[in-house]
Amino acid sequence: MTRTQAARRARLLPGGGTAAPGLGAAPSSFPKPQQAGPSPTAPAPPRPHGPAVAPRSTSEPGAPGPDGTEPRRPAAMAGVGAELGEGLGEGLLLGAGLLLGAYVLLYYNFIQAAPCASAGGLQGKTAVVTGGNSGIGKMTALELARRGARVVLACRSRGRGEAAAYDIRKESGNNEVIFMMLDLSNLASVRSFATAFLSSEPRLDLLIHNAGISSCGKAKENFNLILRVNHVGPFLLTHLLLPRLKANAPSRVVVMASAAHSRGHLDFSCLDRPVCGWQQELRAYADSKLANVLFTRELATRLEGTGVTCYAAHPGPVNSELFLRHVPAWLHLLLSPLAWLVLRTPRGGAQTPLYCALQEGIELLSGRYFANCHVEEVPASARDDRAARRLWEASEKLAGLTKEGTQSPSSQLESPCGPSVQSFQKPSTL
Ligand SMILES: NC(=O)c1ccc[n+]([C@@H]2O[C@H](COP(=O)([O-])OP(=O)(O)OC[C@H]3O[C@@H](n4cnc5c(N)ncnc54)[C@H](OP(=O)(O)O)[C@@H]3O)[C@@H](O)[C@H]2O)c1
Repeated sequence: MTRTQAARRARLLPGGGTAAPGLGAAPSSFPKPQQAGPSPTAPAPPRPHGPAVAPRSTSEPGAPGPDGTEPRRPAAMAGVGAELGEGLGEGLLLGAGLLLGAYVLLYYNFIQAAPCASAGGLQGKTAVVTGGNSGIGKMTALELARRGARVVLACRSRGRGEAAAYDIRKESGNNEVIFMMLDLSNLASVRSFATAFLSSEPRLDLLIHNAGISSCGKAKENFNLILRVNHVGPFLLTHLLLPRLKANAPSRVVVMASAAHSRGHLDFSCLDRPVCGWQQELRAYADSKLANVLFTRELATRLEGTGVTCYAAHPGPVNSELFLRHVPAWLHLLLSPLAWLVLRTPRGGAQTPLYCALQEGIELLSGRYFANCHVEEVPASARDDRAARRLWEASEKLAGLTKEGTQSPSSQLESPCGPSVQSFQKPSTL
């Protein structure tokens, strides 16, 4: 072995040098290389005889060197490492604390919902909750059942509807929770539901229009499915159930709107144009929510003096299946934990609709928009009475409530935007 090879080997061997005095005692002072290691010209220290032992890593503090001397260099590094580790640990702890604090502030100020303070009981009253089998609707129905109401879950799936009715009966201890079939995308189904309801239920005190979609999924309809489910179906249902609501006044209609209404725009020349692709769907969702707010406004005007009042309720951003139902599984998996962290629970989302349904003394605010259990101002597009009247008339046609609607449905609603409503029903009057 040449002298250079020997020196290189000595440098590589752990503990293969003379330690600088005091290194271990002052971990922050770094060893001077020429003091800590052997001189490049010095021969490599002899390895101890006996069985080969794998050198200890420097992560093992206090490991003796192969020559039996105290391992000053690893000890010093361990000291420095410990200090660095401590500093890093403290930094991490501080960061985690700050993050947690910020999250708690965010949660209590923006995510958690203001609770509905009304303590009113609902014994002897009947409520219909559309889409009451999941999300906000299920939590709303549960609270109404807890307060003693008879609750009809109006849902499009028998399996999901009956399962939810069972859960709610069990959790609330109220056996008066039943399922009835309602598919809001199908006007014939809306009429069948109304006929079945009116023939079997003597009362109606609360009509909660909760059901809604934000995407068409795989459905390929030749009409605007999002507007149909979110507005036209509920419009027809309100019309058909109004006599029962009036007979049981004071009674209420709650329409589940959304803050998305502020981005909505109603193009009356092609309201019923089919939508495709997520961008069109998002736009159609916002438009349908603007329709909800304008419909509530116009309904309040038409119901003045009847004892039936109505309210548009924004539940807040809620962790439900609304926007996740049709996303690919991998994206669902990715977004679910995030949604859990930053969105409110469906129970939280139910607080504003419950407030609108139960709070005493808000009758003078009929027709208004509520969020976080408060009445809120809406943008000019959602306060436009002319647009609200126009929407009402267009909705009558889309729901098949006008003569024109039954006589020549397609030609009536045909527009440059594409094909229009297919299903038209016998006309009836408000
Ligand atoms: N989540 C939010 O952040 C948020 C924000 C603002 C407003 N909102 C509004 O709150 C309401 C409830 O939404 P959610 O978040 O609770 O969503 P969700 O869990 O998806 O609930 C929607 C409900 O509507 C039902 N539904 C869908 N299409 C229907 C049809 N054709 N006929 C009858 N029922 C139908 C669904 O039934 P299936 O289970 O059978 O699909 C489900 O029960 C919606 O109107 C939504 O626009 C939600």
